[in-house]
Amino acid sequence: MESFYIVGRKRLEGEVEIDCAKNSLLPIIAGCIMVKGEVCLENVPKYSDVLAMKKIVEHLGGKVRFESGRFTNDNLIIDCRDVVYSDVPNELACSVRSSIFTLGPILSRKGIAKVAFPGGCDIGLRPVDIHISALKQLGCKVVDKNGYIYADGGKRREGDVMLSFSSVGATENIMMFAVLGSGQVRIFNPAREPEIVDLQNFLNSCGAKISGAGSNLIVIEGVKRLHGCSYHAISDRIEAGTFLIAGAMLGKKMVVKNVKPKHNQALLTKLSKTACKMDVQDDRITISGSPHLQSFGEIETAVYPGFPTDLQAQMCTLASVCEGYSLIIENLFESRFKHIGELLKMNCDIRCKNGVCIVKGKEKIYGADVNATDLRGGASLVLAGLVAEGYTTVNNIGLIDRGYYKIEDKLTALGGDIKRIKCEKKVDNCS
Ligand code: EPZ
Repeated sequence: MESFYIVGRKRLEGEVEIDCAKNSLLPIIAGCIMVKGEVCLENVPKYSDVLAMKKIVEHLGGKVRFESGRFTNDNLIIDCRDVVYSDVPNELACSVRSSIFTLGPILSRKGIAKVAFPGGCDIGLRPVDIHISALKQLGCKVVDKNGYIYADGGKRREGDVMLSFSSVGATENIMMFAVLGSGQVRIFNPAREPEIVDLQNFLNSCGAKISGAGSNLIVIEGVKRLHGCSYHAISDRIEAGTFLIAGAMLGKKMVVKNVKPKHNQALLTKLSKTACKMDVQDDRITISGSPHLQSFGEIETAVYPGFPTDLQAQMCTLASVCEGYSLIIENLFESRFKHIGELLKMNCDIRCKNGVCIVKGKEKIYGADVNATDLRGGASLVLAGLVAEGYTTVNNIGLIDRGYYKIEDKLTALGGDIKRIKCEKKVDNCS
């Protein structure tokens, strides 16, 4: 087991380079299953979720390797010419939510698929009914039983799909399913996140014919085959947001590089209310904290371009050290407040009920021994440790490694005092 040991209240200055987006890379890796050629994904961080997807593609018969290139991170070389299998077993699927993204590509290429139900952060039930409904609307036969989804791709692969909710994963899955074929598929009420546009751009680089990603209608003209390409995914707007929140609390002209400000507009609007100072350029944001941060008022999570649910936990930490009261409403996931119990150990003043949190800002919060509950909840605890008086240990940090690569190195380079320590397996008698 590993933990982060953090000594709080250190100013953060200098530069941090944001990595490629986890939530772009995961569906793109799944999309490679359909590509009959070699794909080079550039500058890929070794997020543990990426490593989990690598294992799934290898299980199907694909060849996947990291190779050093001219970027900070290695390139990921994926060759799925020899993909022969069409099943994803539970032991591989259960570790990540993104395993479900393989359903569409396997079905598209092989005509049949057997994929175990996905895993992922414990932030709600996270069913896959919208994924299944979308496939059925295109004539697929889909049965879910014994923890597996059995699907037959049928012949049609053309027509209209209406998503009952703008699910990110369901949009990506049905988009990929429709890529190989001879007809037109239109997706109504799709998710509009930047990662959907990134997936469209990747697939089009391989010869797909997709348009409309990022809008309220995506149109796919089926093609016979996809060829290899080189592709550089967009930067991770959630990692960028996490560092910007750190900068709002502790920054001293801290420069967050390789960002797309328009992908973080909802966050920037809220941060501008807190009295932190920001200089927003095309590809970087310089941020300085204020000793007297004001509350940002309220946030309500929503689908893009609304406030991202993946920054909700981090905003709970920020609210805890801003003067005044803040209101935080979580609309996307029904149990995404598990980090609150851990923040309360650090003397935060937070009350929450039925998806609504009221946070009373405090002059100081104090270090404690806390446990990451999920990826972004874990990130909120790291931020709390950085701003707290005294020292904090954040346990269960494997959850954080799912979506932040070497976060302790980046924070140390900025002046933070954070170390990764190995600890004997803690028997958690409290749960
Ligand atoms: C993606 O998850 C992201 N994960 C999540 O990021 C992100 O929080 C989420 O989109 C929303 O933006 C990846 O891209 C790998 P959804 P996904 O389908 O696709 C319900 C992170 O921290 N729903 O848009 O699973 C679902 O339960 C992770 O990086 C159904 O009811 O999100 C949830 O309440 C966490 N039925 C809501 O929709 C379905 O079939 C949004 O889910 C699908 C979803």
